[in-house]
Order: sequence, then structure tokens, then C-alpha cells
Amino acid sequence: MDNQKSEKQLLFESNRRLQEVAQELSIAKKERERLLDELSVKNVELKDALNKVQKQTVRLMQAAKMAALGVFAGGVAHELNNPLMAVLNYIQFCLKHLDKESQLYKVLQDAEHETKRCAKVIKTVLTFSRLKAEGEEDPVETDCYIIVKRILELLAYRIEANEINVKVDFPDQGLVVTMKPSKIQQATLNIFLNALDAVQVSKDKEIVIAGKYEGDYAVIVIADKGCGIEEKDMEKLFDPFFTTKEAGKSVGMGLPIAKQIIDDHQGELIYESELGVGTKVKILLPLKKGYCAINLK
Ligand SMILES: Nc1ncnc2c1ncn2[C@@H]1O[C@H](COP(=O)(O)OP(=O)(O)O)[C@@H](O)[C@H]1O
Ligand SMILES: [Mg+2]
Repeated sequence: MDNQKSEKQLLFESNRRLQEVAQELSIAKKERERLLDELSVKNVELKDALNKVQKQTVRLMQAAKMAALGVFAGGVAHELNNPLMAVLNYIQFCLKHLDKESQLYKVLQDAEHETKRCAKVIKTVLTFSRLKAEGEEDPVETDCYIIVKRILELLAYRIEANEINVKVDFPDQGLVVTMKPSKIQQATLNIFLNALDAVQVSKDKEIVIAGKYEGDYAVIVIADKGCGIEEKDMEKLFDPFFTTKEAGKSVGMGLPIAKQIIDDHQGELIYESELGVGTKVKILLPLKKGYCAINLK
């Protein structure tokens, strides 16, 4: 009897133990699953962080490249500027003393025209290389809408003459950011001029300029229904002297200058484009106050 009981008890005990072990196992399994989940979240976070570091490294390298190029190009431009101005003076002196009907006069007029074109290129390069060094303009709170209005007034003739449909859409209360206004005007103008060039031969000559608050940024969007940008050119947009336009018409310094200005404001310049459909440019300017005074002076 005793033997039978102890056998039953043993069975019961081992059954209970088995159940306990099964329970422990299921807890361990759940814990393993939880840890695996945690690991995969951490993995995603790690990938994100790695991505950010990679992007930041590319940015830093680009910034270093631009800074070095700016110093180099600025030095060359500066050295070229004085003798070129002297050449222009000599040409203009000769023009003054020549018979306007003579063949030499016409040749010298062409020389004057070409020299002025060189001077224009030099001026843009100097603007690019001096941007960082310039600190004369104090950052002030400015309404982006005022800047856009000024640009449209400036280009009213060209817009009308080419029958371009420019739509403007800004919030009623405006879009106010701390910025160096003339610099942001220059950047926005450069971007808008490209949009004008892009719609020149389009069927639908439409450009939309919109402003909005988006998270920590004030955003100016310039969207055109122009020729669009080829995929292979997207990464060259901010390279100095990159242009797909007619030689002599364009210098290819509009976007490097715009990019440098927006970088100095700790902003972002984002391009999306589809060939034959159009281009959308986003200028993001951070809203946090006080950043300008630290970073731009
Ligand atoms: N909105 C746009 N639509 C089509 N192409 C554009 C646009 N903006 C820029 N691009 C391309 O980027 C190039 C560089 O622009 P930019 O630096 O302003 O120089 P540029 O206007 O003198 O060519 C242009 O030549 C053009 O190929
Ligand atoms: Mg341009």
C-alpha cells in the first residue's frame, strides 16, 4: 500500500515538476522573443544612426571641398579681376578715340562685350568665395513672403514677356524666420531664375511659389512644370560651374551660392525632379531663434 502511494506521489511530483519546467520554458521563450524584438528595434536604431553618420560625413566632406574650392577660386578670381579691369579700361579708352564707323571700333566693341562677360563670371566666383567671410548683414526676423514679392517685382518684366504663370501661396500671417534677408533673397532668386529657364520651352509655363510652416522649419517651395533634371545630373547640382545651359549664357554658380547661403542658415535645400515633368525645390529654414547670431557671425 505504502509502496503504491509513494509511486503515485512520485508520478504526481514528477508531473508537477514537468509542468513547472514547461512553464519556466514558456517564460524563457517569451523573454527570448522580447529580447529578440528589442534587438531588432535596436538594430533599426543602429542602422538609422549609421545612416545619419554617413550622411553627415558626406556633408562635411562636401562642405570641406566647397570651402577649399571657395578659397582657391576666390584667390584666382581676385588675381584676375584687377588686370581684367585694366584691359576693360584700355578698350574703353580706345573706343572713345576711334571713329564709330571703323572696323576696329566694331572689333573693340566685341572685345569690350567679352571682357564684361569675364568680369561677370569673376564677380560670381568672388561672391561664392566671400559668402562665408561676409558678416556685415545682421540676421533679423523676416517674412519670406516679402522676399518672394521683391523677387517677383524684380523679374516682373521677364515673367510677363514670356507669359509665365506664377502662382503664389503663403499663409495669411506670413512666414517669419530669423535670417540674413539679402542672402536668402539671393538664394531664392537663383533658384527661381532656374525655374524661369526651365519653363521657357514648356507647354505649361507654370511656377508655384508656396510658403508654409513644417515642424521646426519655415519652408519655401518653388515648383515648376519645366524641363526637369536628368537623374545623372541630380548629384552635380551644387557643384561649382555645373551647367547644362548654353555656353556663355550661364556660369553654373547659381545653386552652389544658394546652397552655401542655406547651409550657413543651418537649413536644407531639397531637389526633386522628373525629366519632362518638372522640378520641386524646397528651401527649409530652421525656426529656432538665436542660431543665426552664433553661426553666421
Ligand atoms: N528648376 C530646374 N529645372 C531644370 N534644371 C534645373 C533646375 N534648377 C537647376 N537645374 C539644373 O542645374 C544646373 C545648375 O544650376 P545653376 O547652378 O543655377 O547654374 P546655371 O543656371 O548657371 O546653369 C542648371 O544648368 C540645370 O541643368
Ligand atoms: Mg541658375
